[in-house]
Amino acid sequence: MRNTDPNALSGHSRESVSRRQLLATATTLGVAPWLLSAHASSGAAGSASPVHRNAGSRRKLGPMEVFPIGLGCQWHPGRSPQVVNDLYASSTDRQAAIALIRRAVDLGVTLIDTAEVYGPFMSEEILGEALQGIRDRVAVSTKFGFDVDPQSGARRGGLNSRPEHIRQVVEAQLRRLRTDRIDLLYQHRVDPQVPIEDVAGTMKDLIGQGKVRHYGLSEPGLQTVRRAHAVHPVAVIQNEYSMLWRGPEAQVLPLCEELGIGFVPWSPLGMGFLTGTVTARRRFDDLDFRASVPRFARDALPDNMPLVALVQTWARRKNVTPAQIALAWLTARKPWIVPIPGTTDVAHLEENVAAASISFSASELQELDTALAAIPIRGARLSPPVLGATGVEAPLKR
Ligand SMILES: NC(=O)c1ccc[n+]([C@@H]2O[C@H](COP(=O)([O-])OP(=O)(O)OC[C@H]3O[C@@H](n4cnc5c(N)ncnc54)[C@H](OP(=O)(O)O)[C@@H]3O)[C@@H](O)[C@H]2O)c1
Repeated sequence: MRNTDPNALSGHSRESVSRRQLLATATTLGVAPWLLSAHASSGAAGSASPVHRNAGSRRKLGPMEVFPIGLGCQWHPGRSPQVVNDLYASSTDRQAAIALIRRAVDLGVTLIDTAEVYGPFMSEEILGEALQGIRDRVAVSTKFGFDVDPQSGARRGGLNSRPEHIRQVVEAQLRRLRTDRIDLLYQHRVDPQVPIEDVAGTMKDLIGQGKVRHYGLSEPGLQTVRRAHAVHPVAVIQNEYSMLWRGPEAQVLPLCEELGIGFVPWSPLGMGFLTGTVTARRRFDDLDFRASVPRFARDALPDNMPLVALVQTWARRKNVTPAQIALAWLTARKPWIVPIPGTTDVAHLEENVAAASISFSASELQELDTALAAIPIRGARLSPPVLGATGVEAPLKR
């Protein structure tokens, strides 16, 4: 929810007010905010020395250049053919999902994320349909790696990154996405049966054939990244990262910096938690992925609410929304980080896109980080079997 209380503007600079007006105008006109004025991209919210600016219209993501906020499309079949569910509690319909993607592109979003296993197949099919006529305006990123039956779409359990399987999957993805190339193709999880040299070698071949432009790894082990990078440069790592889960800061982000790899945080809104829509007493039904996540369990959730309170305090202070604070905090960490918030709601999409123009001064960021560091998070980020598939090192090639 946007704070529209005029009194709330009194402590803010004229610059921040006009920036919000600009964003509102851009949203109304259906164009990217940065098209209206370079002023929007300077983004300082009324504070001196805004050294941690969002770059505005574009930022480097490894070898790519994209809008600072992407869009995640992780959708699954609902109770009837036209219904589309997200992984949590939201749903929409197929035509609305298509319209949402097209709206994102109109707003300037260029990085759109999906995966073979989202549906399976359904999210890629929706994305392919949505991008008809506007394909060249975006970078399509998708993933392979789960063992999905190519005919039925049934998940056979486990992983499959065998080179012949990857090639088969890519052909099917190109058909579903209605395109001749995938701009960024990730291995969704490291396959403990397949040397990463074989996977990276397959990526290199596909890149040579023009079917894939760049490749990435999701939740890989650190040595696996180095070994893959030695075969062909890894463009992007996609891991969970947000104010709720800061694990990548210890080793993954330094490795990205060292090797020039871009970083895409998944669940940048903490699976919705950072938007302030989850209360301490919330219970998740069985279809909601959060029901299996220890940090959202009945005993842990109340202990984690101080983080929501902190985000809400900063949202009021900067006259933006909690979701915007969570996204702007991520883009302020490094100039090569591009979050991919997922949504089924156009108003949320617009709000998330507008976070590209929000920045923190150095002192604001320091203050926020100090407050964040003082809030312990109770409960693991994922259930044990799902967590067990992260940070895995691929077997050595014999
Ligand atoms: N590589 C991986 O293993 C992996 C794993 C998980 C996800 N991903 C990718 O990351 C993307 C994003 O992650 P995610 O969807 O798990 O989590 P997220 O982006 O952290 O949160 C999504 C949730 O936040 C809500 N939301 C979004 N914007 C909002 C706003 N402005 N105000 C209030 N609520 C808002 C959404 O509900 P509404 O629909 O109601 O807006 C949804 O419930 C996915 O779509 C997928 O592409 C990758």
